[in-house]
Amino acid sequence: MAFKKGFSALVFAFPTVLGLVSPQKRAVCSDGTTVANAQCCNLVQVRDDLINNLFTNECGDAAHGALRLIFHDAIGIDPVAGGGGADGSIATFNATELTFPANQGIDDVLDTEGPFILKWADVLTPGDFIQFAGAVSLSMCPGAPQVKFVMGRPAPVAASPPNLVPNPFDPVTMILNRFGSVNISPQEVIALLASHSVAGADDVDPTIPGTPFDISPSTFDTQIFIDVQLRGTLFPGDGPNQGEVQSPVQGTLRLQSDHDLARDSRTACFWQTLATNQQQMQSQFADAVFKLSLLGQNQNDLVDCSEIIPAAPAFTGTPTFPPALTSADIEQACASSTFPDLPTEPGPPLVVPPIPQADDS
Ligand code: HEM
Repeated sequence: MAFKKGFSALVFAFPTVLGLVSPQKRAVCSDGTTVANAQCCNLVQVRDDLINNLFTNECGDAAHGALRLIFHDAIGIDPVAGGGGADGSIATFNATELTFPANQGIDDVLDTEGPFILKWADVLTPGDFIQFAGAVSLSMCPGAPQVKFVMGRPAPVAASPPNLVPNPFDPVTMILNRFGSVNISPQEVIALLASHSVAGADDVDPTIPGTPFDISPSTFDTQIFIDVQLRGTLFPGDGPNQGEVQSPVQGTLRLQSDHDLARDSRTACFWQTLATNQQQMQSQFADAVFKLSLLGQNQNDLVDCSEIIPAAPAFTGTPTFPPALTSADIEQACASSTFPDLPTEPGPPLVVPPIPQADDS
């Protein structure tokens, strides 16, 4: 595992976060936000630092990485193998967890986000910080829901056991069982994959880092559910690589797991439903991602600071097929209803540009 700036190789040492759960006291924060619990006001300056200095006000690589990190930390729990879930262990015990193959690329995310985790260590534990940054990252992406955030996760005590993060080449049954073991249903898995609407891959095909999963990686729209249902015709780089199947548009990369989940009888109809339903995608993603953020935690011990999470700009577009593609290019998988016939975006076939990388500058 290469650590570009060496940050993720560091051992994290954290001060104690004081007074995490104190009695309710309504307050108005410095930015005018009214909160149910005064201690949430401490998050205002952390939020603004993240928006201005980590995400630089964009739904770009740093925001995408922060969103991926919430998953790779939270899913590190299993009823048999153990693990602390959304506890920040992926940061504190990075020396162990970054050796897990499914965490490939998380070193880059920790290189970027890690200095902020340390900077604000007297306000938020690593587990809180990771979930907070993920929630704030969504506010950068037009069309994303405002997700809930609760604070008060204790510091992690150990690294996650290995083999708990799904790989893109895992069979559907293995993926659904992995999520099922932590009480996340097949529908919730599909809702969570709305995240791949603001995402791309650096390491699946390392010859083309930053290759998006859909044609609009800076917008939290339903496009991922449309693009993945289209017949794959090309590899954007030197594919096939492990975990990669053919995609329908130049410059986009399709994960095998997304492809298979879109075509499996257990999940295909729900996948299709989300393809044209922005509101349903938003609300089901918001519920599922909040559930993810509670893995390994007792919600009763946590303080609701959701008021601090900003709203994302609205998404005003409508679902379309990418230029030159039509419903004839759809691989119908849902047995009970036909994929909706959508307008085709005008113009010549797209070549989607790579997502600029956070460490490019
Ligand atoms: C079946 C489960 C999942 C699999 C197999 C999977 C797999 C992957 C893979 C292979 C990548 C590309 C990594 C790289 O090469 O850079 C990726 C990126 C990403 N994933 Fe997932 N993922 C899953 C679920 C999730 C969930 C639940 C979330 C969040 C809630 C998520 C958020 C993201 C994001 C935001 C990125 C883009 C990161 C970036 O652009 O820097 N994924 N995922």
